Order: sequence, then structure tokens, then C-alpha cells
Amino acid sequence: MNEQSIGRADREHLNGHHGALVWLTGLSGAGKSTIAIALEQRLHALGIHSYLLDGDELRLGINRDLGFTPEDRVENIRRAGEVARLMVDAGLVVIAAFISPYRADRQMVRERFAPGDFVEVFVDTSLAVCEQRDPKGLYARARRGEVPNFTGISAPYEVPESPELRIDTTVCTADDAASIILHRLLGA
Ligand code: ADX
Repeated sequence: MNEQSIGRADREHLNGHHGALVWLTGLSGAGKSTIAIALEQRLHALGIHSYLLDGDELRLGINRDLGFTPEDRVENIRRAGEVARLMVDAGLVVIAAFISPYRADRQMVRERFAPGDFVEVFVDTSLAVCEQRDPKGLYARARRGEVPNFTGISAPYEVPESPELRIDTTVCTADDAASIILHRLLGA
């Protein structure tokens, strides 16, 4: 980079706010995408430039070559983290919604960011509740043995040990969760 090149600080100045990554982790059906959408609406209304990266969405495009083996999940999260890094460098507030079941992978993403730029949010919904909701019918299929490596059933989910935020979805609506995250982001 030479002196003339435009940097993140220049882009943030133009935007009028800092970039950051909000990383939502939790079981399938925990409510990550719903919270992400609510948060994005709130940010948008405040004039904050944001972008939502969703596991389901990325798996149709950039990650369409990946499945759910441990190796593929590592690569799924690595790519998502790198895309998020570019977007944060562009000055955006990025919201990432991925099961991201492995602690080491979430840590790997965290380490790609400056302290404070990575906000890990544990969307804490029990397996029993997720399974009862079963919005895509995947838990039922997984119980029948039709979906291999299904998180919570036949593949692990490693609970975050010290996330920046934990959202208890039994007492929080998606809007409440968005407020909590927003509060953290804006330090207000
Ligand atoms: S991650 O584990 O690699 O982070 P990601 O968030 O991208 O997962 O994708 C999760 C979504 O893929 C789930 O919400 C679900 O709709 C779908 N899915 C399909 N197969 C599986 C599986 N074996 N385990 C978990 N989710 C699955």
C-alpha cells in the first residue's frame, strides 16, 4: 500500500461509522437468521452500511462445493471468515449466521480481526427447542438417519466458552436480541 491508497479508515470516514463483524453461532433452528435479519433492519434504519452472510445462502454459491463433514465445515467457516474480513475492510458491519460448531474455527476467524472488531454472539437455544421447531424438517430426517453429520444429533456443537454476548432465546425475541447486539456495537 502506498501513501495514496485508500484504506479502511478512509472508507469508514466516508461511511460515518466503523466496520465490524457480528458472528452468530448456534444450532440449526436456534434463530440465528431471524436475529440477523432483525439486526440488519435496525442497522439499516440507523444509516449503518451492513451485509448479511448466511450459511444457507453461501452454501448455494461460494461454498456450494462443501458438505457437512468436519473438514468441509472448517473450510466453510474459513471462507466465510475471509469474505467477512474483506467486507469489514470495506467498512461494513457484517452479520454472519453460521452454525460454526467448532470452537477452533470460531477462534480462527476471531484471530483474523483486530480486538473489538469481532463480536461473537451465542444464540443459545436448546437442542430440544430447536428440534421441536424443526423449521426445515431436518431434525426429523436426521433422527431417521437420513441426514448424516447433523449438528446436535450425529455431529457435535461446541458451546462458546466466552462469547461477547449470549442470547437466551427462551426469554428474548429477535428484536430484543437485535437491541442487545446493537447496544454492544454502538457502545450506547
Ligand atoms: S456450518 O456447520 O458449516 O457452520 P452452516 O451454517 O453453513 O453450517 O449451514 C447450516 C444449515 O445447513 C442448517 O441450517 C441446515 O439448514 C443445513 N444443513 C444441511 N445438512 C446439515 C447437517 N448435516 N448439519 C447441520 N446443518 C445442515
